Amino acid sequence: MSLEPPPDQDIVVVGASGDLAQRKLLPALYNLSREKLLPTRGAVIGTAPVDWGDQQFRDHAHQAVATFSRTSVDDAAFATFAERLHFVPLSGDDITPLQQHFTQQRRIVYLAVPPSAFSPLISAIGTAGIADDTSIIIEKPFGRDLDSARQLNAELHSVVPEERVFRIDHYLGKETVQNLLVFRFGNSVFDRVWTRDAISRVEITVAETLGVDGRGRLYEEIGAIRDIVQNHLFQVLALTAMEPPISFEPEAIRNEKVKVLRAIRPIDPEHVVRGQYTAGTVGKESAVAYRSEPGVSPDSTTETFAALRLQVESWRWTGVPFLLRTGKRLKVRDSRVVIVFRDVPLHLFREVGVEAMESNRLVVRIQPDEGIALSFSAKQPGPDVTAQDVHMNFNYGSSFRGSPPEAYERLLHDALHGDHMLFIREDEVEAGWSAVDGILKEPPPVEFYAAGSWGPKDAARIAAPGHWHAAENEV
Ligand code: BG6
Repeated sequence: MSLEPPPDQDIVVVGASGDLAQRKLLPALYNLSREKLLPTRGAVIGTAPVDWGDQQFRDHAHQAVATFSRTSVDDAAFATFAERLHFVPLSGDDITPLQQHFTQQRRIVYLAVPPSAFSPLISAIGTAGIADDTSIIIEKPFGRDLDSARQLNAELHSVVPEERVFRIDHYLGKETVQNLLVFRFGNSVFDRVWTRDAISRVEITVAETLGVDGRGRLYEEIGAIRDIVQNHLFQVLALTAMEPPISFEPEAIRNEKVKVLRAIRPIDPEHVVRGQYTAGTVGKESAVAYRSEPGVSPDSTTETFAALRLQVESWRWTGVPFLLRTGKRLKVRDSRVVIVFRDVPLHLFREVGVEAMESNRLVVRIQPDEGIALSFSAKQPGPDVTAQDVHMNFNYGSSFRGSPPEAYERLLHDALHGDHMLFIREDEVEAGWSAVDGILKEPPPVEFYAAGSWGPKDAARIAAPGHWHAAENEV
């Protein structure tokens, strides 16, 4: 990440009154401004179908920063940031009124809008005649299946070339996800064991305690496979399973990631469990059923949980199952990768009560409690030979000082610099959709689970033989 300010350009946020702008984009832009990582010259132009002026936008940004920023509001820093903020109310798809507010030759347009608005806005950029100097950041979900993703790619490329398209997957902005590359390719100790010879399975979990959080109507159209599996889980899978790139250049890395996604075998429907939460208790709070959430149909069959068993058919991974799961309203919030190593060839201690020996595991905690732990067996002190599962633990909080930048800070900063490393390339997004297209077309029925549990009972079947390694049992 360059610590130089990016080239001069305007930043246009379409959907500036929305949830994403409020929670993530405005706080991220403020923090970049505070750290002098925004372009030296350039406005931040918000637009949305609301009747705001500049001052209302600035007040909204202040409140967004005060509520959601990782840093508190510094009055002087906010005043400097606010000077850049302008607002243009727009209700239709004609974006030409924006042009009189441009201050620079170049601009980056962030489409922080629902997916149905992507296509009209892309063609509006073309029609307005501003495409030549425009880059586009586009939020997920990018399409809803392979065909629609291809179509959206074609629409984008009819307006701007791939070099000026930045498809967001905010998981790539997370430090712990980026660290997968450094961990794998900066340490020789794990290199030799990162293969089917030593690894028996790989588990990747993205568990949330939140429900649909007021997004019921939108979520009804999406579900967990489109919302998390096809993007966040597949990106973590790609970084975990990819071959070493020939350099640390964006294209070299993306070339290797796409190979992993292309190597996913068609998924056997027997190896997919879809679930939906019913009422329950998450932590100490009671939660309503998904079907009772605002905007959700009372007989909805949208999945809020998915567990899948995949095969990555490559020289390195053939025969190693990749177990992916995600869900809302689960017992704990926890995103992690668990590498489970093969058992020792001979259980020497069988006679002394150690049948329950756990396999060695490497656990990458993406969030919360970010860190990495290696679990192995140690002799419990005492006259008997009794093995116990113990952990060597690296913890971000104690090893590194200060709060790391938020994912969106890093991603906005890189896009402003034109750096594509942490963005999804056209072929990656299509390979991701291609892998789940079969199960989206013929989804298995949903099974119900109580909010606050670990998902439907049948999810255990996906992990068998063996079991999911959940946060509760691990460091
Ligand atoms: C988003 C999904 O991409 O990621 C949300 O649309 C989900 O449904 C969110 O809640 C989770 O992000 P994080 O960073 O909290 O793990």
